[in-house]
Amino acid sequence: MAFAATGKIWMNGKLVDWKDATIHVASHVVHYGSAVFEGARCYATPKGSACFRLDAHMRRLQQSAKIYRMEYPLDQRGWEDAVLETIRANDMKSCYIRPIVYRGYEALGVNPFPCPVDASIMLWDWGTYLGQDALENGVDVKISTWARMAPNTLPAMSKSAANYANSALIKMEAVTEGYSEGIALDVFGNISEGSGQNIFIVRDGAILTPSLGSSILGGITRDSIMTIARGLGYTVTETTLPRESLYLADEVFVVGTAAEVTPIRSVDKIQVGVGRRGPVTAAIQRAFFDIINGEAPDTYGWLTYVYAEEAELRNQKTIAARG
Ligand SMILES: Cc1ncc(COP(=O)(O)O)c(C=O)c1O
Repeated sequence: MAFAATGKIWMNGKLVDWKDATIHVASHVVHYGSAVFEGARCYATPKGSACFRLDAHMRRLQQSAKIYRMEYPLDQRGWEDAVLETIRANDMKSCYIRPIVYRGYEALGVNPFPCPVDASIMLWDWGTYLGQDALENGVDVKISTWARMAPNTLPAMSKSAANYANSALIKMEAVTEGYSEGIALDVFGNISEGSGQNIFIVRDGAILTPSLGSSILGGITRDSIMTIARGLGYTVTETTLPRESLYLADEVFVVGTAAEVTPIRSVDKIQVGVGRRGPVTAAIQRAFFDIINGEAPDTYGWLTYVYAEEAELRNQKTIAARG
């Protein structure tokens, strides 16, 4: 069954009913995957609904589009406002946010230039991607037989729809073989990332993660986790990591907007550490969830409140209550 509709979808600046938010089958994007998109989240916090790192997501959207020479008449502020307007129009308290910029309907040659650059923003309820149990007990993954895109083929730093053909191959293979996720290597055989998550290894108290040169998406959760971990006093190094470092790790976890922070308990049926969430993963997970749920101070300025008046009102009440 298709997932539930959410009221309105933003399409090129207009709010359209979910059922009317359609594009023509002859649109360039349908045939050639010519789209770039974002995945962000809005959380219900005690101070009201807040988007996590909306600015970083909207910056990455524009950078993804730049790589593909797509120009859209919205700047950083315009994108952020459009997302906030869409959440308010749907009166969502928490949601997954999916802005997408795509080549529309004009011509069907491979050359995308004749086609318009269109954009939409849709929202929906999306719970825990790998399940609540996964957040606590971890998941089993395998190394995919599919490698991530080679450098200078499809640009991994662009969150482009085309890259998700590779992600789908990785995911389907993993699911078919009974694993929750597949971890892909880059074409040199070093660790890259999951089908939709970045990966971290903990070894002897230090934290390691593949660098941008290993065909990864520069994840916003990855960046947040590096900041949080360093704030907790850990050393975090971005480096080239051979496949076997996963088998020898004390802890492994994957991160992403959808997966949040999910521990890995085995790789290729080889137990990671003690086979359950380790102490470093637990500490980082706690710090991350405390920030996104508004239970810890937003020291990094990562939350954008959707209903600003609501947040302001509550702040005033808190100040008044403190006397
Ligand atoms: C291939 C891939 N890598 C990493 C990530 C994590 O990125 P972020 O933390 O910005 O969601 C995603 C998430 O969409 C992804 O699709």
